[in-house]
Amino acid sequence: MTKPIDQTKASTTSTGAPAVSDRNSLTIGADGPIVLHDVHFLEQMAHFNREKVPERQPHAKGGGAFGVFETTADVSKYTKAALFKKGAKTEMLARFSTVAGEAGSPDTWRDVRGFSLKFYTEEGNYDLVGNNTPIFFVRDPMKFPHFIRSQKRLPDSGLRDNHMQWDFWTNNTETAHQVTYLMGPRGLPRTWRHMNGYGSHTYMWINKSGEKFWVKYHFHSQQGVEFFNNAEAMQMAGMDADFHRRDLFDAIEKGQHPKWVMSVQVMPYADAKTYRINPFDLTKIWPHKDYPLIKVGTMTLNRNPENFFAEIEQAAFSPGNTVPGIGLSPDKMLLGRAFAYADAQRNRIGTNFHQLPVNQPKVPTNTYMFDGQMTYHHSGAAPVYATNSDGRPWADGTGTVHDGWEADGTMVRSAYTLRADDDDFSQPGVLVREVFNDADRDALVETVAGALLGGVRSPVLERAFDYWKSIDADVGLRIEARVLHGSAPEPAAGMSES
Ligand code: HEM
Repeated sequence: MTKPIDQTKASTTSTGAPAVSDRNSLTIGADGPIVLHDVHFLEQMAHFNREKVPERQPHAKGGGAFGVFETTADVSKYTKAALFKKGAKTEMLARFSTVAGEAGSPDTWRDVRGFSLKFYTEEGNYDLVGNNTPIFFVRDPMKFPHFIRSQKRLPDSGLRDNHMQWDFWTNNTETAHQVTYLMGPRGLPRTWRHMNGYGSHTYMWINKSGEKFWVKYHFHSQQGVEFFNNAEAMQMAGMDADFHRRDLFDAIEKGQHPKWVMSVQVMPYADAKTYRINPFDLTKIWPHKDYPLIKVGTMTLNRNPENFFAEIEQAAFSPGNTVPGIGLSPDKMLLGRAFAYADAQRNRIGTNFHQLPVNQPKVPTNTYMFDGQMTYHHSGAAPVYATNSDGRPWADGTGTVHDGWEADGTMVRSAYTLRADDDDFSQPGVLVREVFNDADRDALVETVAGALLGGVRSPVLERAFDYWKSIDADVGLRIEARVLHGSAPEPAAGMSES
């Protein structure tokens, strides 16, 4: 990325002059005071004080690598995006992360994992910022800061707190689906290479004729899907807090390039109005029998960063970064996110974060955003305003937007209108009964009971029992018995068959 360091020459100051010494500061006599004009020393001290940027508010701990996305199927009837033209190969960056832990926290603590992708397409950068689960905890962005704070630390002691987490979850029952995923095996992926990824939200695809579709993205690990159990994950957290970061880096160094197959579920545009589940509700999946997976291509990670800070810490992903042929949707969470990320990055990295090599598109840009701290790319002497009479082009779109949808009505503050199958507990119930096996259900009871025994107090405790009984009566009763009496009853008859 940058010029390699010339190993034959001694170090320099940042302005390129030879540095006199990196070992001794300038003093009056060997035992005397340091002098103010030792510019090289002062520069070292001052830069050191500024060599960290704030960590990401959520998803602070992570790692990543570069790779390539190859489109292997013809999906042109759904999208005109150049990235998804059959045969296209697009350079990309992936970053995986935990959500709640800080930058130094263990990789193997139970948590949802971030699955962020940046595609450097020939039409500009496309970012898909998802997780290793197809759904999320809340469906209104107003709740997001409250949710994240409830998972972080208490204001007085600075400690993580189970009571606070379960208080939020049980007060907001739309969390049930994601909490069930989190308390199940997917809460402890063995490595990042062994987990699936999801775009989670519903996005829009638009084809050449302007036809629109709703899509959900799925990335299936070709390494297989593997998990840790609680004991293995805790042991690993103590032995190697950076286990997942190390695993990915080492695998790529050894030439073992992890690969995922990307598929989409496609919903015809008009179906959204009548589907029995609100297709924009981020706490719901679309059953595959309604909208089967359509394979699109493969993602292979094959190049490690040369510098973690420059290329991973300063990487800036945003669900707002779309390209022609791909749009957002009426999912309120997605619309909230379209604002949040670039704003966080202006604060975390700086106004011109998009000019850093890792964030720059591979295509030329012509933006009227101007100046600001650390400006590197600029428009020279070209006009700085549009419209202008001196030949600098500007965008001039008017009328119906190609990636829009109809919206009408009185302004309200409200939950989504409920549809026939829009309840909070049915889908997590199916996950527990039809996707988890007996061992998963036993582990789920132990994991939840362990968390509830870790400081959750009345009335949150009783609410948590009701929450789990609403997800699955048998699992709920077992959790309650385990917490109150120390042992869980046997699974109800027939559970093992489901
Ligand atoms: C309204 C809801 C949400 C808000 C306001 C929000 C906000 C944020 C912010 C401010 C960051 C830090 C960005 C940075 O400093 O670079 C972040 C990171 C992240 N968020 Fe969200 N988030 C929301 C929901 C979600 C959802 C639903 C998902 C997944 C489906 C998600 C996945 C991620 C991931 C993967 C990262 C890490 C990005 C990276 O690797 O750099 N977030 N979020």
